[in-house]
Amino acid sequence: MEFVLNKERVQVLDIDADTTVLNLLRQRGLVGTKEGCASGDCGACTVMVGAVTSDGQIEYKIVNACITLAGSLAGTHVVTVEGLQNGGELHPAQRAMVEHHASQCGYCTPGFVMSLANLVEEQIESDQPAGNLCEIVTRGISGNLCRCTGYRPIVDAGISALNDTSSLSVCHDDARDFLQTYDHENDPADGSYHRPRCLEDLDRFVGAHGNQCLVAGATDFGLEITQRWTRFPMIIDISKVIEMREIGISDDEISIGASVSYSEVEQIFAERSYPFVHILHRLGSRQIRNTGTLGGNFANASPIADTPPVFIVWEATLELRNSKGQTREVSAEEFYVGYRETILASDEYIVRIVIPVACVDRFHRLYKHSKRIEDDISSVMGAFSIWGDDQNIGGIRISYGGMAAVPVRIREVEAMLMGAALNIELVEEACARLRTVMTPMTDVRASAGFRMDMAVEMLDRALREYMGEKLPRVDDLL
Ligand SMILES: Cc1cc2nc3c(=O)[nH]c(=O)nc-3n(C[C@H](O)[C@H](O)[C@H](O)COP(=O)(O)OP(=O)(O)OC[C@H]3O[C@@H](n4cnc5c(N)ncnc54)[C@H](O)[C@@H]3O)c2cc1C
Ligand code: FES
Ligand code: FES
Repeated sequence: MEFVLNKERVQVLDIDADTTVLNLLRQRGLVGTKEGCASGDCGACTVMVGAVTSDGQIEYKIVNACITLAGSLAGTHVVTVEGLQNGGELHPAQRAMVEHHASQCGYCTPGFVMSLANLVEEQIESDQPAGNLCEIVTRGISGNLCRCTGYRPIVDAGISALNDTSSLSVCHDDARDFLQTYDHENDPADGSYHRPRCLEDLDRFVGAHGNQCLVAGATDFGLEITQRWTRFPMIIDISKVIEMREIGISDDEISIGASVSYSEVEQIFAERSYPFVHILHRLGSRQIRNTGTLGGNFANASPIADTPPVFIVWEATLELRNSKGQTREVSAEEFYVGYRETILASDEYIVRIVIPVACVDRFHRLYKHSKRIEDDISSVMGAFSIWGDDQNIGGIRISYGGMAAVPVRIREVEAMLMGAALNIELVEEACARLRTVMTPMTDVRASAGFRMDMAVEMLDRALREYMGEKLPRVDDLL
C-alpha cells in the first residue's frame, strides 16, 4: 500500500488487515497523534486525509485515526500534527493555540489542532469569505473533547487561525502529483485488505467470504477491533465501490449509494430538508460524518440508529444485491427482523437507498433526544411525515428509534389519525394511545419511562407544528 505521510511517500507492506491508522502511525514513531478513547468519541487521534474526489478535486477531511483502518489510506495524503509545520514555521492553527493559551495538559491538543487546521484548509480551498466564524469553529471541533482548558480559548484560537492570511495549504507539490496520478487499480497491495472498485469484483469477494468482513466507514466496525478486541484476518473495504458511491437525483427519486458518507448526504439535503440536515449535524461529529455511511447505519442494525426512522417515514427502499449479482428491493421498514438482525442473507449487501422525492417534500419533523447536542447517540429518535389538506390528515407515518428492539412504525396511532380533522383534543388522544402501544427499553442512556415521555412529547410537538403552532427550537436557544 502506498500513500503520502506528511512530506514523504511511504510504502507499507505486510500489515494486518485490521490495523488501525493510529497504530500504524505510532509504529512509525509518529506519537503526536494521541489515543484517548479508542472509540471515535474524543478526537485526540484526529488526522487529516486528502484524496481526489469523484469530480477530480483534492479534498482534505478529518478522521478519527483510532477507528479508521490503515488499508483505507492507499492513494491518499495523510497529514498528522507532526506534518503541519512548514519549514520550521508553525501552522496558523498551532500558532493560534499557543497565543490563546488554549492548552493545559495538552493531551487533546493535537486533535484540536488538526480539526482547526482542517477548517483553515477548507477556507483556503473554498476561496470564499467564511460566514459566522464562531459557529464554524464550534461545529468544526464538535468531535474533540477537552477536559481541562475550557472551550472559549480554543474557539478563539480557531477564529484567529481562520483570520490568518498567511495560511498555506497542506497539499504540497509531491502530494498533489501523487494524488492525481495514483492508480486505484493497484489496491490492494496486500492480500488481506481488499478494496473492490465495482459490484462485480465485490460479488466475488462476498461469494468467497460472506458479508461479515464488509467495512464502509468503520465507525461501527472499528469499535469491534478496539473495544471488543475482535481480530479480522481479512477485510473487504466497500468505501470505493463506484456504484455504491453514486448519487442520483431525478424529479421522482433520490438515490444514494450505500457508501456515500454523511458529510455528502448533508449536501444532498441542504436545500431539501432542514429537519434532516439538522439531525445529520447532530449525528456523531465531523470526523464520524466524514467516514460513516447510510449503508452502515442500516446494516449495523442498531435500534438507536438515527437515520432508519427517517427513511421509514419517507417510504424509502433499499436495493440489496447478492454475490450472484441478483438484486431485490425491500422497504426500509422490512429491513429489520429482530434485535440486531436484518433481512440480509449471508452473501447479500446494501447497494443503495432510494427515496421518493414526493415523500421528502411532505411536511416532516425529525427529533433526536440525546444527552448532548453533538456527538451523542440518541436515546429516542422520532420521525413524523404528515400530508393532507390544512388540518385534515390525508396520511401520516410515524416511526421511532430507541423504543424497541428495532426501529418501529406506529401503525395504531397512524390509523387513528388517518382522515381525521386535527384538533388539540385529538392530539391528546393520539398521545394517550401512543403510551399503550409501545414498550420501550431501559438502558444506560434512558429509562423506559423517560423514553416513553420523550416519544409522547415528540408526537405532540409534530402534530402541533402541523397545525401551525410555532414552538421554540434548540437552534433558537444557541
Ligand atoms: C463516536 C461515534 C458517534 C456516533 N454517533 C452516531 C449517531 O449520533 N447516530 C447514529 O445513528 N450512529 C452513530 N454512530 C454509529 C455509526 O457512525 C453509524 O452507524 C454509521 O452509519 C456506520 O456506518 P459505517 O460506514 O461507518 O459502517 P461500518 O462501521 O463500516 O459498518 C457497520 C456494519 O455494517 C456493515 N455494512 C456496512 N455497509 C454495508 C453495506 N453496504 N451492506 C451490508 N453491510 C454493510 C458492516 O459489515 C458492519 O457490520 C456513532 C459512532 C461513533 C464511533
Ligand atoms: S482516541 Fe478518542 S476519538 Fe480516537
Ligand atoms: S488540555 Fe487537557 S484535555 Fe484538553
